[in-house]
Amino acid sequence: MPILVTGATGTVGRALVRQLVAAGHHVRALTRDPASAAARALPSSVEVVAGDFDDPASLVPALRGVTRMHLVAMGGVLGPAGADVVALAEESGVRRLVHLGHDDASRDDDPLETSHRSLRRVIEGSSLEWTHLFPGEFAANTLDWAASIRASHTVRAPFPDWNSALVHEADIAAVAAAALLDDGHAGRVYMPTGPSAVRRTDAVRAIGAAIGREITFVPLSPDEARAEWAGVHPPIVIDWFLEMGRNPDTNAWVSPDVPAVTGNPGRPFTGWAHDHAADFH
Ligand SMILES: NC(=O)c1ccc[n+]([C@@H]2O[C@H](COP(=O)([O-])OP(=O)(O)OC[C@H]3O[C@@H](n4cnc5c(N)ncnc54)[C@H](OP(=O)(O)O)[C@@H]3O)[C@@H](O)[C@H]2O)c1
Repeated sequence: MPILVTGATGTVGRALVRQLVAAGHHVRALTRDPASAAARALPSSVEVVAGDFDDPASLVPALRGVTRMHLVAMGGVLGPAGADVVALAEESGVRRLVHLGHDDASRDDDPLETSHRSLRRVIEGSSLEWTHLFPGEFAANTLDWAASIRASHTVRAPFPDWNSALVHEADIAAVAAAALLDDGHAGRVYMPTGPSAVRRTDAVRAIGAAIGREITFVPLSPDEARAEWAGVHPPIVIDWFLEMGRNPDTNAWVSPDVPAVTGNPGRPFTGWAHDHAADFH
């Protein structure tokens, strides 16, 4: 029976697909564009299917015969279509749903946070065996620096002391895989983080060590960062980053969930930098 992975071409989805395939499972990967390079790069044994949360009816073929599914909170699933997508999954016979999203109780006024929360409520109100994954900051967010590291061995960013328990996508995927494959995770909320908090300057140093080059950190004021990020991130996300930056330890908390669920201590940022060295060369 196929396991449906939505967001299969994304950061966590790609890692999850690889882990499920390596464990011998039949994986069905959802993408809006099966002809894209990201979809074509999925392992050859993966069944790639087209579907778009913005058009819930397009998911009917992807859901056929599926009892376990990974749902990434993106696009239309974060809007009114979220309820339709969850209802469709239930009607199609899905029993177990692992939901990768976000939850920040401190941000009641933020529309993106509100839509994450409403999807959460829809899932919890369903008949599905659900597990939420609300990770800490992804180590992969530092890929935003890749172009300037490749071009000039510099990182231009605010908050050099920002301290965050950056989590490897493979560890988030390992928690998702356990929740999909093993019993005992229904009704649980996991918050995977990395095994220790890493300051931005140390993250830059770790990437430098992984590629064998010294990288210069150029600290930006919040206004300079806003100008630098315009056109890269939506304004609401920029506001959010800058607000978080006021307290450098907001994301420093280390969760016990990766070791508790996977039995492994969690990959340190130095390991992530090593795994992604090619992205920064
Ligand atoms: N970055 C962080 O630090 C962080 C921290 C905590 C939580 N999160 C949460 O993690 C999730 C993002 O995970 P990620 O980074 O692995 O994703 P990602 O790399 O941004 O990839 C997004 C995936 O979603 C799919 N997608 C986008 N819109 C879609 C639509 N309308 N219908 C169907 N599929 C759609 C894309 O597939 P195609 O393009 O192939 O269709 C792609 O595979 C979000 O819910 C975010 O809130 C992120």
